[in-house]
Amino acid sequence: MITIDYLTHSAGHITKAEVDAYKDKLQDIKAKLHSHGPMLDWSDIDTTITPEQLADIKALAKKINSTHSILIVIGVGGSYLGAESIQKAFNKYFSDFNDRNVIFAGYNLSGEYLRSLIEYLGNKNFYINYISKSGTTLEPSLAFETMLNYAKQRYPKKYPQRVIITTNEKGSPLLDVAKKEGYHLLTMPENIGGRYSLLTPVGVLPLCVCGVNVDDMLRGARDWSQNIDLALEYAVARDILYHKGYKVDAFTIYEPKLSDLASWWQQLFGETQGKHKKGIFPICNVNTANLHSIGQYLQDGEDIIFETVLRIKHLDDFKLPNADISYADLNMIVLDQVATAHAMGNTPSIVINIDKIDEYNFGELVYFFFVAAAAGAYLLDVNPFDQPGVEKYKQLVKQKTKELFH
Ligand code: PA5
Repeated sequence: MITIDYLTHSAGHITKAEVDAYKDKLQDIKAKLHSHGPMLDWSDIDTTITPEQLADIKALAKKINSTHSILIVIGVGGSYLGAESIQKAFNKYFSDFNDRNVIFAGYNLSGEYLRSLIEYLGNKNFYINYISKSGTTLEPSLAFETMLNYAKQRYPKKYPQRVIITTNEKGSPLLDVAKKEGYHLLTMPENIGGRYSLLTPVGVLPLCVCGVNVDDMLRGARDWSQNIDLALEYAVARDILYHKGYKVDAFTIYEPKLSDLASWWQQLFGETQGKHKKGIFPICNVNTANLHSIGQYLQDGEDIIFETVLRIKHLDDFKLPNADISYADLNMIVLDQVATAHAMGNTPSIVINIDKIDEYNFGELVYFFFVAAAAGAYLLDVNPFDQPGVEKYKQLVKQKTKELFH
């Protein structure tokens, strides 16, 4: 169950009258989110993945795991960040590196990364899951070609059985590739964009392979979808702060294994809202490490930043050697005191509390952020589901490289 606390001070204070002024706008946004309009299928958990797809994915995950294979997930942006963040959040900090059964690639142009991955694979068995809604994105398409060549060497006749393609149900060039080559095909709904796709086959296969109980996660998201008021409240609080001059939101965590969740949140909010010269700039802030770094700015720099602080109420406890409390308790005391101190320095905090790191709570949290990100974009009067700002650099790269590829 998610709850919110506000720690604000003078300039960053949010009044009831300010919130009430959003009443009509929120009614419209609620109606829109429930309308099944364009790119909104993520808001109805029953449309993100069919029971047949879920059964197919579970069988596939079982096959991958029963052959002790590694799943190489190739994708960028919304095609990998969600699954990677949850894998990291649910894993132990230190475990045998050889136990890692999902590895992510295709989100950079580092040749060294791929060479090192191939070296690491050695004699280990692997499957490839190439995830691209459009089927045309540069980084994953190149990583896929590279890893496919390697798969052909390792499994000369049987490599097609080791390739899974996840792509848009309509219009993607990968649909034909999968059919022609005999790769396992998973489709994602036309009406769900990359950064809202975690609860579709895009996220569900990698999560199943790394042992996440996706039924519980979907249940958490479905339950939370019944009442979106708190997510709308968060969107409104961010919007009020934005209009008071707080242009940067620092997603602040106190458990380092949530750092990829912060990156997922950053992508979701950054690509959804930052357009047409508007939007809050999202940054990631990992505490307590950053208290000894950008903590200085948050306390004492310009009054342009507020924080979204994630508090996990119950964490694995480990007693402090010289006090009667645990590390987790101390961490939460520090969280409260830091938020209070920052508020005194005019850096407000919106504290989002969740019970614990498990599938159900993360299902709720993912859905909560989906709604808040989309609603925030509507409040800014921008389209939540496009990303016109990433086209310009793509054109320039294409222009410069068009003669290189054959
Ligand atoms: O959220 C988005 O829509 C983007 O970040 C995409 O996920 C990213 O650009 C990858 O696109 P594609 O899945 O088409 O390769």
